[in-house]
Amino acid sequence: MTVRHFLQFKDLRRDEFEYLFDRTRIIKARFKAYQPYHPLVDRTLAMIFEKNSTRTRLSFEAGMHQLGGTAIYLNTRDTQLGRGEPVEDAAEVISRMVDIVMIRTYEQEIIDRFARHSRVPVINGLTNEYHPCQILADIFTFIELRGPIQGRTVAWIGDSNNVCNTWLQAAEVFGFNVHVSTPPGYEVEPERAGLYGTDHYEQFADPMDACRDADLVTTDVWTSMGFEAENTERVKAFADWQVDAEMMRMAKPEAVFMHCLPAHRGEEVTAEVIDGPQSVVWDEAENRLHTQKALMEYLLLGRIDDR
Ligand code: CP
Ligand code: NVA
Repeated sequence: MTVRHFLQFKDLRRDEFEYLFDRTRIIKARFKAYQPYHPLVDRTLAMIFEKNSTRTRLSFEAGMHQLGGTAIYLNTRDTQLGRGEPVEDAAEVISRMVDIVMIRTYEQEIIDRFARHSRVPVINGLTNEYHPCQILADIFTFIELRGPIQGRTVAWIGDSNNVCNTWLQAAEVFGFNVHVSTPPGYEVEPERAGLYGTDHYEQFADPMDACRDADLVTTDVWTSMGFEAENTERVKAFADWQVDAEMMRMAKPEAVFMHCLPAHRGEEVTAEVIDGPQSVVWDEAENRLHTQKALMEYLLLGRIDDR
């Protein structure tokens, strides 16, 4: 059987996402009703972190426990990965000892190399290029609150980073549109974003125009992990790309505001917006747990029917 990985959003087909969302609804409802559900007894998840995390670590670790399995946390500071052991060797060894691996690292190339040498599924927990688990949760959240996302408009304001790239891939998979507004010099790089070349995004010089009639407005930090040396110049360049109430008024009245978190109030978003009535950031964060449980179940057990 071929091992399936989730290294970037387009690794799964639309029908697979629809299945995952069905499973997420069931798994979430059982969790809320305190019904034990342990399909992954005796399965072990290794989580490898080369960058900091709160949500990703907690949602994978808690999620694996809740499914009956075990999660092991590794980081580069105290493993041999931090002392130059080749990623291919690490993959060979780690994947003989556990059933599934999640990695948060720098270049996408690192996780791609790991996956090529892994006997077990590998999940991208964030790279410089992509954050597929985040958008899995975000799209589930949108559908849960507002219905199908197909044909809708998402406004992305700020840096064309890993989260932005993943929204753009998701737009191709689900058939929605992304209005992107970045400062000059920080535009989307279609090849780095891994786009098929289809026409699902449009660039806007003015962030107000990008928000016009949007169903969802979203942003992220101006300086992502790994780019801290650029912080001073980024703070200057991004000053006009702050999501505020005026921008939200350009969007549809029922538009939601999303942010993957952690957020910097007063930089990429005002407190009024992120703490305001249109913000769904806490649902978004919670749904990391439920969607990733469905993802791990799918990668390990395939399609199941246990309604
Ligand atoms: N959104 C997200 O991935 O958060 P963490 O960096 O806390 O994992
Ligand atoms: N773009 C951010 C997301 C953090 C969850 C980063 O890569 O730091």
